[in-house]
Parts: sequence; structure tokens; C-alpha cells
Amino acid sequence: MTSTKKEVVPYKTAEIDKKSQVRLMFNNIAHRYDFLNHFLSLGIDIYWRYAALKLLKPYQPKLMLDIATGTADFALAALKLNPEKIIGVDISEGMLAIGQQKITRKQLEKKIELRWGDSEKLDFTDNYFDAVIVSYGVRNFADLKQGLADIRRVLKPGGQLLVLEFSKPLSFPFKQVYQFYFQYILPTVGRWISKDQAAYQYLPESVAAFPDGKEFVKIMEEIGFDQCTYKPLTFGVSTAYLGIK
Ligand SMILES: C[S@@+](CC[C@H](N)C(=O)[O-])C[C@H]1O[C@@H](n2cnc3c(N)ncnc32)[C@H](O)[C@@H]1O
Repeated sequence: MTSTKKEVVPYKTAEIDKKSQVRLMFNNIAHRYDFLNHFLSLGIDIYWRYAALKLLKPYQPKLMLDIATGTADFALAALKLNPEKIIGVDISEGMLAIGQQKITRKQLEKKIELRWGDSEKLDFTDNYFDAVIVSYGVRNFADLKQGLADIRRVLKPGGQLLVLEFSKPLSFPFKQVYQFYFQYILPTVGRWISKDQAAYQYLPESVAAFPDGKEFVKIMEEIGFDQCTYKPLTFGVSTAYLGIK
């Protein structure tokens, strides 16, 4: 069972499940993903990753798992925390290939290892990681609660889960400006540059349907995370969530 109100999928006419659709979509847009991320957010996504990771600073995690690592931007940013190793997993081979190119180019193979992996069936033993991080990934999980439960399983007791995800700004006039941008400008520019008809339509739809703020914290608590807190960023366009096993 998913926690989203209704299941939002990228390709509405496709007769494949959400996970296969999400994988297909990210394989399709992988070559333009980094450019579009920075372009459509005016570069603010770099600050969001940095601000979220600051929440982990007091914990000094050594072994980290970056779930839905995509092109590895969150894993690369997490090196600022000086961990011994980060493992990144994703279901999209296309996204992983771009991420691997970046890691190889920067000669960071010893620090960051990328592998194919599914958030709902993590291929790691219990109580393994000091911290798990997920940026803009949980919204795409086919089964959010299953994904969060498996994350909790692989965390050491006392380990941290850091989630960064889009959320919905509430205050005037930011809410209105954001809605106009997210519903009209972003899908048009995204479709034009990525050449994928659906991906940047799925983005605002999936954000609108996804639990944010207190609602997401409630789900983290239901799964068993303690001391859950959240920090809205840029008027709540993104939110960072922290929970402890
Ligand atoms: C929006 S991208 C985020 C990538 C990266 N974390 C970032 O911040 O740029 C979402 C990623 O989640 C991955 N994903 C979706 N469902 C997943 C799952 N069940 N397990 C692992 N990765 C998943 C997709 O393949 C995609 O690469």
C-alpha cells in the first residue's frame, strides 16, 4: 500500500507499474537531467542539497547510503561531511551511468560506489549504515512505507535518515508564483529540453499528491523513526526531514 492519496505515474497510458514507469522515465531523461535540474531551479538545488546535509553535520556519519542516487549529486555533495564511504543505489541504469562518469572524472571511485538497487528491497544486511540520505527520491517510490521501512532496517540503531523532497509553499505571494511556475513554465521548458512528453508534467503532479511537512513526518514516525524534525527551504519549495532509528 502506498501513502500517497492517489497513485501518480509518469505515463498514464502505459500498462506497466509505477516502478517500471519511473525507471523508464529517468532512463529517458538521464542525459538532460543535471542540466534541467540546475536550469529549472536557477541553481538553487545546489543550495538545497547543501542545506539539507548540514543537518547531518553533528552526527559525522562514516558509512552512508544514498538511495535514489540518480546522477550522484547528493552523494557528491555529502563528501563535505567527510564520510569514509558512500554507496549510491538507483533503479535507473541511465542515471547511474551519468553519475559514474562524474565520479570517474573526479577520481572518487574509492569514496563513492554506485550500484543498481531498489529502495524497497535493499541488498544490505540489517543495522549496516550510519546514515541514509535520499534527495528527490521518496516521491518516486512505488511503495513509500515499504521503502522507508527497508531504509530503517539497514540503518544502525541511532543512525540517521535524511530526506530532501519537494514540498508545497503555503504563503502568499510565493504560493501563487510557485504554482504558476511549477504548473505552466516548468513542464513546457522540461518537455522541450528533455524531449520526454510526460516527465516534467509528472513532476508537479507527483509533488501535489505527495505528503509534505507534518504529514510526511507522521509517516516517518509510523515507520518507527524517532526525533523527527523538518526544515522548509526557500519558502517551502523543498523540505529537509531528519529522523533517527
Ligand atoms: C529526481 S531523481 C533524484 C536523483 C538524485 N538523488 C538527485 O537529487 O538529483 C529520482 C531518482 O529516484 C530513482 N528511484 C525511483 N524509485 C526508486 C527506487 N524504488 N529505488 C531506487 N531508486 C529509485 C530514479 O531512478 C531517479 O534516479
